[in-house]
Amino acid sequence: MSDSSNDPKGKPVSRRSFLHTTSSAVVGGSILGALPIERIAFADHHKDTLKLALIGCGGRGTGAANQALNTEGSVKLVAMADAFQHRLDSSLKNLKQQHPDSVDVPADRQFTGLDAYKKAIQEADVVILTTPPGFRPMQFEEAVRQGKNIFMEKPVAVDAPGIRRVLAAGEEAKRKGLKVGVGLQRHHHKGYIETVDRLKNGAIGDIVSMRCYWNGGGVWTRSRESLARTLGREPTEMEYQVNNWYYFVWTCGDHIVEQHIHNIDVINWIKGAYPVSAQGMGGREVRTGNEHGQIFDHHFVEFEYADGSRMYSQCRHIRGCWSNVSEHVTGTKGHADVSGKKIWGEHAWQFGPWSFSGNAKNPYQQEHDDLFHAIRNDIPFNEVEYGAKSTMTAIYGRMCTYSGKKITWDEAFNSDLDHSPESYQWDAQPPVLPNDEGRYPVPVPGETAAL
Ligand SMILES: NC(=O)c1ccc[n+]([C@@H]2O[C@H](COP(=O)([O-])OP(=O)(O)OC[C@H]3O[C@@H](n4cnc5c(N)ncnc54)[C@H](O)[C@@H]3O)[C@@H](O)[C@H]2O)c1
Repeated sequence: MSDSSNDPKGKPVSRRSFLHTTSSAVVGGSILGALPIERIAFADHHKDTLKLALIGCGGRGTGAANQALNTEGSVKLVAMADAFQHRLDSSLKNLKQQHPDSVDVPADRQFTGLDAYKKAIQEADVVILTTPPGFRPMQFEEAVRQGKNIFMEKPVAVDAPGIRRVLAAGEEAKRKGLKVGVGLQRHHHKGYIETVDRLKNGAIGDIVSMRCYWNGGGVWTRSRESLARTLGREPTEMEYQVNNWYYFVWTCGDHIVEQHIHNIDVINWIKGAYPVSAQGMGGREVRTGNEHGQIFDHHFVEFEYADGSRMYSQCRHIRGCWSNVSEHVTGTKGHADVSGKKIWGEHAWQFGPWSFSGNAKNPYQQEHDDLFHAIRNDIPFNEVEYGAKSTMTAIYGRMCTYSGKKITWDEAFNSDLDHSPESYQWDAQPPVLPNDEGRYPVPVPGETAAL
């Protein structure tokens, strides 16, 4: 930003805001037609006030919108979309309290239902996609089709066909000059960045063994009864599953995809590669109620990379067990606690380990600062490839644990196993249905198809 202040308020009209005002007021008209082409492009990339739309107004969406509104320069939240009005209402209330001057979402820019995203995307320059990951491919495609800059949360899909759609739309975004951030915020944490750089530069020699964990107690369930109370009627099966989305593969991808992706992604980042072969095991031991849908409560996967090194990956959602969320690597000359940002290199016996001592900004804020900086300054910014391929690595792990088979990356990546529903309507049938006792089909290793 060189020719006007970043202060959103009380700013004199600059050349840039004049361009923006005139270009949006006279679309296709004579003033726009008279501008030289480079000035039109400049006006598009450097709007003084960036209009923001939030799609998926839950916990993370509300947080991400807050962070987008906290970036330098003027940003206004102008549209919101959610499957359910009550979710949108509580998010809007929360954001209005935090940003009374930057939230302007009247009733006619509040959209609800499963096609609400299309209308909200139309209203904005930048869109935040924070719905459950099963919806990400179609919403990302639509945002790219409409030519918007995008922040989308991880995971970016729940199956291989979804990953291929996201990668293709990511290439289209590059061709259109759109900026796309993916919510793997460790890539924006100064301590992670420095630790990974040192490891890539040989601090512990060749990395030969990796392990990572997301072991914890699990997350919420959202019951049919409480949704019925909120809606004032019985929800349809589709409404129930979209609301209780964590427990269905077509909406969530299982917790190995939804959470453990963060740790798997860090290992891929350090290796600069994706695994070529994998096998694993998993099941549901404790979290077995009807409200727990069909996903597992634990997974273990051994991923092998092309150089023969292996990543041992564990994730568990069972209360009362060892909790740990971390990544570790061992090399030919030492080892590192990556999440602890500590490296024991060749000379650690003499000098002790290296550890990160800088100040790292909250990476959730930093990732939005970086994306908005790129948008305002027209700097290439596209995190789709690693976002999609790390999501794919977690999906690949799930394919192994559900099937009990050893499979290759190429088989997994090219799989046509598509979990999406045939139709996105509240009265349509979701891809899985409960039996008479309310129980959903659960994968059985040895019987469930991998691909
Ligand atoms: N990067 C991180 O550390 C991090 C942390 C938390 C969540 N996330 C990700 O953010 C996403 C959302 O998670 P959350 O915790 O906010 O969940 P949430 O359930 O709190 O919010 C999801 C919202 O999306 C709405 N929704 C569902 N289907 C929709 C559709 N088709 N169209 C519009 N709205 C729809 C829901 O009603 C809900 O309000 C997930 O992908 C999750 O993995 C990332």
